[in-house]
Amino acid sequence: MESVAGRRLRIPARESPMAQTTENQNLREEFNRWAEAGRGEGMKDDHLPITLPVLDRMQLAPGDSVLDAGCGAGWLLRLLAERVTEGRVVGMDVSDEMVRHARRNCAELPQVMAVPGSVDEIPWESEFFTKVVSVESAYYWPDPAAGLREIFRVLRPGGSAWILINYYRDNPHCHQWGELLTVPTHLLAAEEWAQMFRQAGFAGVEHARISDPTPGPAEYTGRWFRDAAQLAAFRAEGALLVYGAKPGQS
Ligand SMILES: C[S@@+](CC[C@H](N)C(=O)[O-])C[C@H]1O[C@@H](n2cnc3c(N)ncnc32)[C@H](O)[C@@H]1O
Repeated sequence: MESVAGRRLRIPARESPMAQTTENQNLREEFNRWAEAGRGEGMKDDHLPITLPVLDRMQLAPGDSVLDAGCGAGWLLRLLAERVTEGRVVGMDVSDEMVRHARRNCAELPQVMAVPGSVDEIPWESEFFTKVVSVESAYYWPDPAAGLREIFRVLRPGGSAWILINYYRDNPHCHQWGELLTVPTHLLAAEEWAQMFRQAGFAGVEHARISDPTPGPAEYTGRWFRDAAQLAAFRAEGALLVYGAKPGQS
């Protein structure tokens, strides 16, 4: 049992420590640095405009049990908790420092908890969650196919998975990120992601683009895009959403 904001939650977690692969260790160290620099909270600004349409599509119900895989500092856990008022919202992240931030940022929400763990070995019992969402995390997973198989395992029959990413092959305006990031990434096409969903067992697999209507700056001074025009083109192409359902009745 673990206490979250004074309420004792029964945690159906599996007794499996995070897979201590070198890849996971590198991810943990890199994203711990991001968390310590406050970048976990800062990502909300960039990811909120593409995430809100996904929340609408997910049709969350008050009694849902939702996993956010790669939850970062937990801003999405708070949004999920506004909709999932009677069920359970669980954030999981390979970075224990991100998890600490997420716990702190959600401390007063009794239906929310955050746990350290890697998507290739989700520390949770099978068939628990009704929905799994993941924002801007999947292209970092060392073995995305294994991650999708684990997500399939922890979903109830009839449950659904929603993966949103900004770094994918069909959007040429993000390809430069691979060289700027200090951890390995996967630059896959929408159809390759969809195929991995199907191979993991998902049905009704589809993908969609979520464009970002945020007005761009007149001048871009960051390092991720060549200039303001490329940032605008990137946002117009949109993020990639891939989703599918676990066959069966919930
Ligand atoms: C770009 S951040 C996005 C965080 C959050 N979803 C958001 O939108 O603010 C990527 C997150 O994925 C996490 N992550 C990367 N690989 C992971 C893995 N294999 N298992 C779980 N989390 C992972 C990182 O630690 C990091 O917090």
